[in-house]
Amino acid sequence: MSQAKATILVTGGAGYIGSHAVLALKRAGYEVVVLDNLVYGHRELVEDVIKVELIVGDVSDRSILDQLFSTREIAAVMHFAAYIAVGESVTEPGKYYRNNVNGTLTLLEAMVAAEVKKLVFSSTCAIYGMPKQVPMTEEHPQDPMSPYAASKWMVERMLGDFEQAYDLKSVAFRYFNASGANPEGLLGEDHNPETHLIPLVLLTALGKRESISIFGSDYPTPDGTCIRDYIHVSDLADAHVLGLEYLLKGGTREVFNLGNGNGFSVKQVIETARAVTGREIKAVERDRRAGDPPVLIGSSDKVRQTLGWHPQYPDLNDIISHAWQWHQKRHG
Ligand code: UFG
Repeated sequence: MSQAKATILVTGGAGYIGSHAVLALKRAGYEVVVLDNLVYGHRELVEDVIKVELIVGDVSDRSILDQLFSTREIAAVMHFAAYIAVGESVTEPGKYYRNNVNGTLTLLEAMVAAEVKKLVFSSTCAIYGMPKQVPMTEEHPQDPMSPYAASKWMVERMLGDFEQAYDLKSVAFRYFNASGANPEGLLGEDHNPETHLIPLVLLTALGKRESISIFGSDYPTPDGTCIRDYIHVSDLADAHVLGLEYLLKGGTREVFNLGNGNGFSVKQVIETARAVTGREIKAVERDRRAGDPPVLIGSSDKVRQTLGWHPQYPDLNDIISHAWQWHQKRHG
């Protein structure tokens, strides 16, 4: 391990993507402090697996933030803490605007007060809404279709305003479908409730669920099921380290898509999972889920060219194998 570099505050570092970023930061030689309210995060991943400091608290709590910034030399913040369930955001919008928008505003104001002016932010391709063309570039028109997507879109707007007013520099990454798990089996996806396709397929393979539902098989795609751009969570984490280093070197505000540029259908995911696990995995075709675009594929040319990012695990087989390793350990 190289000599410790700057200290980075990671909000939501006990969650799925956050924990992978914390591990990547630690391995790149950074000091890391995690702030997580543990509503959905997992204490043991931070304290026992990655072994960095965890402060249990909320980004909406200004006093915790002020204390954190005044007692440490924080060079930059990576902000993952957010609620992520698209469907729930439609039925409980206040929860999403309060946590994702208000919470981020509190964080930004505390950062400005403490003169910490570099932020890496978790955004989403959901801000684009229904794709007008694929692959989608960062220039694609924005039309968020859920309170979840709108909350991320609003934060991106705020980041522009905070740069102009206070010179706060940020990199926002718009993720496509984050998936997979740490290749060594140390970390992985453990949402409760789980709504994402790959973990649900693997929980079915483990016998924890009776079957996997295929939400719609009459889409205008080759096999009739929705196509998504699955990106390995460790590749996402590496991009965050590159984004941080870009800011530490004086980079100005940027937004980048993070996807593989490859699409896989729901049926292809299930078939690959059958091959990887050697299990049967019962699938049942059901009605479409509201609000699902038929195809979501991102262009990541900009992040490749600007930050020199290259995904190490673009293969769906690797993504599902790593997730399977984790699920067997966690739930087997
Ligand atoms: N799907 C099923 N059965 C399931 C679960 C999902 O067929 O039990 C399908 C969905 O309909 C979709 C695909 O599998 O076509 C992927 O669904 P996920 O729920 O895994 O992921 P989404 O594409 O809906 O959502 C992801 C992120 C969101 C983000 C969104 C952007 O999880 O945070 O991409 O559209 F907002």
